[in-house]
Parts: sequence; structure tokens; C-alpha cells
Amino acid sequence: MTLLDYEYLRKLLKERSGLDLSADKQYLVESRLIPLARRAGLGGIAELVQKMKNGADALITDVVEAMTTNETFFFRDKIPFDHLRDTILPQLVPARSNRRALRIWSAASSTGQEPYSIAMCLREFGPALSGWRIEIVATDLSQEVLEKSKAGIYSQFEVQRGLPIQMLVKYFKQTGELWQLNADIRGMVQHKQLNLLHDFSGLGKFDIIFCRNVLIYFDQDTKIRIFERLSKMLEADGTLMLGAAETVVGISDAFRPSPDKRGLYQLNPARAVRSNAAGASPQPLRVVAAR
Ligand SMILES: C[S@@+](CC[C@H](N)C(=O)[O-])C[C@H]1O[C@@H](n2cnc3c(N)ncnc32)[C@H](O)[C@@H]1O
Repeated sequence: MTLLDYEYLRKLLKERSGLDLSADKQYLVESRLIPLARRAGLGGIAELVQKMKNGADALITDVVEAMTTNETFFFRDKIPFDHLRDTILPQLVPARSNRRALRIWSAASSTGQEPYSIAMCLREFGPALSGWRIEIVATDLSQEVLEKSKAGIYSQFEVQRGLPIQMLVKYFKQTGELWQLNADIRGMVQHKQLNLLHDFSGLGKFDIIFCRNVLIYFDQDTKIRIFERLSKMLEADGTLMLGAAETVVGISDAFRPSPDKRGLYQLNPARAVRSNAAGASPQPLRVVAAR
């Protein structure tokens, strides 16, 4: 791959998906795009880039999707789901007892293991939520992963990663070598294609936002902008959950980390007071990372 082709792809991926590739990631691009070029009947990356420059929209979408990392599994990292069961829901359920409704967003939901893990947690929470309007909104850039998520069908390998056996037996039906989630759990999740780089204010406010293992691929300025916009999507007493390798610390003061629960963030009350006093919408602030 020529340096010019690499620079063209780098710029396009940054604009389309936020993916921030460093100058030395040619091998990654080649390993993902050479097979795609072959499937499209093209000679290699040079030809692929030429077609993209000529405006082959479907091919551009395929390239962007091929470069995203869709790795996910049920109850990933376990602790966030323990926090959901043991801390967040026990506080949120009494606080929402008048409204009897909960809205949760899985903001980079990939093939569905995250939103369905949330749905199973809510079902396991028991009768305290019976009769409530539960909305779990699963969004992703990639239409392909959303289609798989909607079907709720997983391989033996996928259900063996992170899913407790009791939940497999309780919520899935086996068909040959595949397992499908039951209609009740699937029905709790609504799917929607959404690029986090674009306006998402139309989704409305959420009680909990899971935005895990996607911001790590973005550069600092993009993270700052997304944290700022996420902060407007959360109810005042809501919770943001990030992935194990992600944090707001040193990036944004729109949220503050929970003092004792790793990966959990609340809206920064100091920020709300400051912006109310100023009577204007808050501006993103760069914070120097603590060492
Ligand atoms: C590594 S997966 C994380 C899945 C899940 N949140 C988890 O932690 O297991 C990252 C997902 O982010 C999606 N993604 C990448 N860039 C995106 C963007 N700009 N907007 C929305 N989703 C994006 C990818 O398609 C992929 O499915």
C-alpha cells in the first residue's frame, strides 16, 4: 500500500467513524481491507482506493465497517453488571417509582451481547420492575452488527463467553448448534443505526448510558466532544458506564468518576452549578491528567 493510499484511508476513517489510526497501522488496514478488496473483485488496495475516490458509497460503508472492531461478549468485564444489579438499580428503582419507566442506552452495542446482558439483569431484578416501561436502546454505526443483534442468535462459542449457564438455560432456546434469545428479552431492546460522531440528541434522556469500548478508538478532541454531548443525554441522577480502559479523567469535567465503583460516572454537580450561574451551556474543559 502506498503512503498516499494509507493517508487517504486514515483521513476517511477518521471523518466517517472517528477511528484514529496512528501512522504505523498499515498492517492493520491491509489485513482487513485486502480480503474485502478481493471479495469485491478488485486487484488490491490501490484499486479499492480508486473506486472509493470515484464515489462508490456502498464500498466506503464496507471499508468503514471492516475497520471497526466489533469484539464483545455477554456480561463483559462482569463488574459493571454487578454494579447495575447491586448499586444502580436499587437506587434508581425507588427514585423512578412514580414514573415506573427506565431508559437505558447501549451506545456502541455491536452484536447485542451488551444490551441483552442489560435486559437479562433487569429481568433478574425481579418483581420490583414488573409492569414498568423498560426501554433499552441499542445503537451502533454498523448495520451488519445490528442485524445480527436483532436476530439474537449466537454460536456455542459466543454463549460460552461470559454468560452464566443458568441464564443460558433460562433465556435461550437451542436450535442445532445455535442459541436464540427468547422473544421476551429480544423485545426489551430497540435497535437503531447511529454514528456517535453525529447528533444523537433526538434519542431523548436516559437513566443509564453504557458507552463501552468504543471511545478508546477516538482521538482526544473527539472524546471531549462526545462526553460533552453524552452529558446532555443523561438524567441528573443518571449513570454513565465506560469500558475498563476508558475514563473521563484528564479529558472532560462533564462527568466525575464514582468514588468507589470503577467504570461508573455521574454528572459533575460542580459543572451544573457553574453553568446555571453563568446562564449558558457549559463549554468543554480540558483537565490535566493526574499522575
Ligand atoms: C469493541 S465494540 C464494543 C461493544 C460493546 N460496547 C462492548 O463493550 O462489548 C465497538 C463497537 O463500536 C462501534 N462503533 C465504532 N465507531 C462508532 C461510531 N462512530 N459510532 C457508533 N458506533 C461505533 C463498532 O461498530 C463496534 O460495534
